[in-house]
Amino acid sequence: MSSHSMSDTFAERAAQLREYIFSQPSSTFENNPWAVANAIDDFAETQGRMMIFKKKKLEVAQAQLTAQQPAPRTILEFGTFVGKSAVAWGAILRDIYGGDIPEDVNVYTFELDPVMVSLSRDLIKLAGLQDVVHVLEGPASESLKKLHSEGNVTSVDMAFFDHWEEFYLPDLQLIEDLKLFRVGSLAIADNTDFPGAPDYLKYVKAGGRGVAGSVKYESLSFATKSQQGKPSVVEVSTVVALA
Ligand SMILES: C[S@@+](CC[C@H](N)C(=O)[O-])C[C@H]1O[C@@H](n2cnc3c(N)ncnc32)[C@H](O)[C@@H]1O
Repeated sequence: MSSHSMSDTFAERAAQLREYIFSQPSSTFENNPWAVANAIDDFAETQGRMMIFKKKKLEVAQAQLTAQQPAPRTILEFGTFVGKSAVAWGAILRDIYGGDIPEDVNVYTFELDPVMVSLSRDLIKLAGLQDVVHVLEGPASESLKKLHSEGNVTSVDMAFFDHWEEFYLPDLQLIEDLKLFRVGSLAIADNTDFPGAPDYLKYVKAGGRGVAGSVKYESLSFATKSQQGKPSVVEVSTVVALA
């Protein structure tokens, strides 16, 4: 990037998105997570590229979560950015639980950048999800260790990997080491094809560590099409055994 850094560009884009949403009547969005998620998509489509989890890919994850038995109670998200997918997880949980989300159903989403933490929290609140979707600032691995040691997360139904790709595998293995997965838990990852997370992909495709007592996965690559018509993959890995 030439005249200014990538994080300056993201901060400018975040400020524009804030203006785009909060200049509209709040009644459009209040208590309406899908309206907030769709508005972020509209902004990205009309105002320029943003590194959000795109609609077609979200539909793949939505189908998996909606079919999950028992229904998802704890979702971890690695990489909040402006909160598009975090709000969407809340919207999906509302659909699953018929609007009345039980108190012990939570999304924990991790983000390094304080500007994004602030914007995503405001959008989550606007959508009426502040009791369900929690943004934790700092390195994801540290936030997860704290959630675990304080007893706030004891089991994980779905982990979504959408932060910097070099952390996908270590953070997946951290979830394993903390013994948070159950049979049927899902690990869903964006960008495994581009920019690519080869070590993560190799690991889940191989089924995991492959040693006694380790988590075993079955992993499928779902191909969607980007707006430009290019193939774009979501990797869905299901925990099929814990030993
Ligand atoms: C691709 S964006 C996430 C997009 C978001 N899931 C969405 O669909 O709107 C990646 C985000 O991950 C954050 N990030 C990268 N590495 C991280 C880490 N180790 N811990 C927490 N956040 C991280 C970045 O600051 C960036 O905002």
